[in-house]
Amino acid sequence: LDRYAVIGHPVEHSRSPQIHAAFARQTGEALVYDRLPAAPDAFVSAVDQFFADGGAGLNVTLPFKGEAAERAEQLTDRAERAGAVNTLARRDDGQLIGDNTDGIGLLRDLTANLAPVQNARILILGAGGAVRGVVPVLLGERPTKLCVANRTAAKAEALANDFTDLGNVSGCGLAELTGDWDIVINAISAGLTGEMPELPDTVLDGTTAAYDMVYADEPTPFLRWAAARGVQNRRDGFGMLVEQAAESFHLWRGVRPKTADVIAELRPGGN
Ligand code: ATR
Repeated sequence: LDRYAVIGHPVEHSRSPQIHAAFARQTGEALVYDRLPAAPDAFVSAVDQFFADGGAGLNVTLPFKGEAAERAEQLTDRAERAGAVNTLARRDDGQLIGDNTDGIGLLRDLTANLAPVQNARILILGAGGAVRGVVPVLLGERPTKLCVANRTAAKAEALANDFTDLGNVSGCGLAELTGDWDIVINAISAGLTGEMPELPDTVLDGTTAAYDMVYADEPTPFLRWAAARGVQNRRDGFGMLVEQAAESFHLWRGVRPKTADVIAELRPGGN
């Protein structure tokens, strides 16, 4: 049986094994998919051991996506652009290909379930590693404009600068934000547990769509904040997780699973 795993630190709570098991059942692909914990300083040795033992592919999660990009012998364009790899596949000659399916995962979930990206005015809150993965993919759909806003403004500006060849993208500080946006995407990692930072009320209104790249059993602080400002069209990042997994599965197996039923079946808390 071909063996796959998700490697991370921590990785105990990853939903990826369940998602890939559902894909395997649905498509009739024979494979096993486990969790592979790795100590923070032992990523490369764990990867090399996994593939030396005959492993077929890995998903890579925090905090190893940058190291995975360095380890891969070959990168897809989108992984190179992101500087981060969430999917490793072994070629027949033993070399590792690194891909990044996070951006396409977000794009698929957004366009299928929330709002079109083409010609949209899109605001992204946060400028961390996750944003770097999704910006090039979103720009490929030709939004009217894409703004990255971050607590540390210089980081948002630097990130935007790296992608200006791909479209209309800019960076700014959270404090300088003004309206009008069609889609607001939250990628501030504190949004999972803590409270939202102070944001100007004009950022959202009833016509805006709100997407949180994280998910939880309960509506996230960002989505609660959006709901309180009259936003009806809201979605959390569980669909993105399933969609990025489907793209990895496709890369490994050459088969594209249907995602809607898997999202509905496995969605935590049913929200
Ligand atoms: P990820 O991989 O999830 O993107 P990351 O690279 O650590 O994680 O990025 C975290 C993001 O959340 C950053 O944009 C960070 O802002 P700074 O660049 O200014 O640090 C943002 N963030 C984290 N905690 C925050 C908070 N309390 N208020 C505002 N932004 C916060």
